Amino acid sequence: MKKPDYSKPDFYSRQAKEKGYVARSVFKLEEMDRKFKILKKGMRVLELGSAPGSWMQYASEKVGESGRVIGIDRDLPSRNVRGNEVFIQADVFSVDGAELKKRFGIFDLVLSDLAPDTSGQKGTDAMRSVALAERAEGLAEFLLKPGGDFLVKVFQGPGFEGFNQGLRLKFRSVKSFKPKSSRPNSKEIYIFCKRFRA
Ligand SMILES: C[S@@+](CC[C@H](N)C(=O)[O-])C[C@H]1O[C@@H](n2cnc3c(N)ncnc32)[C@H](O)[C@@H]1O
Repeated sequence: MKKPDYSKPDFYSRQAKEKGYVARSVFKLEEMDRKFKILKKGMRVLELGSAPGSWMQYASEKVGESGRVIGIDRDLPSRNVRGNEVFIQADVFSVDGAELKKRFGIFDLVLSDLAPDTSGQKGTDAMRSVALAERAEGLAEFLLKPGGDFLVKVFQGPGFEGFNQGLRLKFRSVKSFKPKSSRPNSKEIYIFCKRFRA
């Protein structure tokens, strides 16, 4: 079967450019926000895997000046951050949760759009994605306020079911969602977890 050519801008890439967003991923968050009402004014938000920066752009608009968005990625964002945003260049496996708590306090919401470098081997990629998602969950458990929410991307494959089941013990509501703007052949799925049982 012929592989899709992702170097050509598709509908969502063109839309992102037109609306001034740095990546097409923004439409996934926008769609999930419309469905689950994730982001509200004044929220303190942590995003893991935040480069090039489109989710931070969207989130910082939604939380407004009374809110705050902290983004962490090993790559740099491809735009300047606004007044209510802070970007930290780091690997999520070496970032110190206690340092983050000391500096920023606890969060209302943790987002993780972390994605591994893909190897082309679906099983390996899924296992790497689950490892990132588990790291995100560990940080979320340490940094979320009681009752806080967590949105996490994970690839379906080995480890996915166990990860999904584990989330049910920690949050009162857990829902999986595949946004329309997610590439059709992508194994990614988002899990929205509401009300952290601290
Ligand atoms: C799909 S992109 C995120 C897109 C972002 N949400 C946006 O809207 O612009 C996934 C990101 O995960 C980051 N990432 C993957 N592994 C990481 C790690 N171990 N530590 C920090 N960032 C990582 C990559 O550098 C990449 O920028």
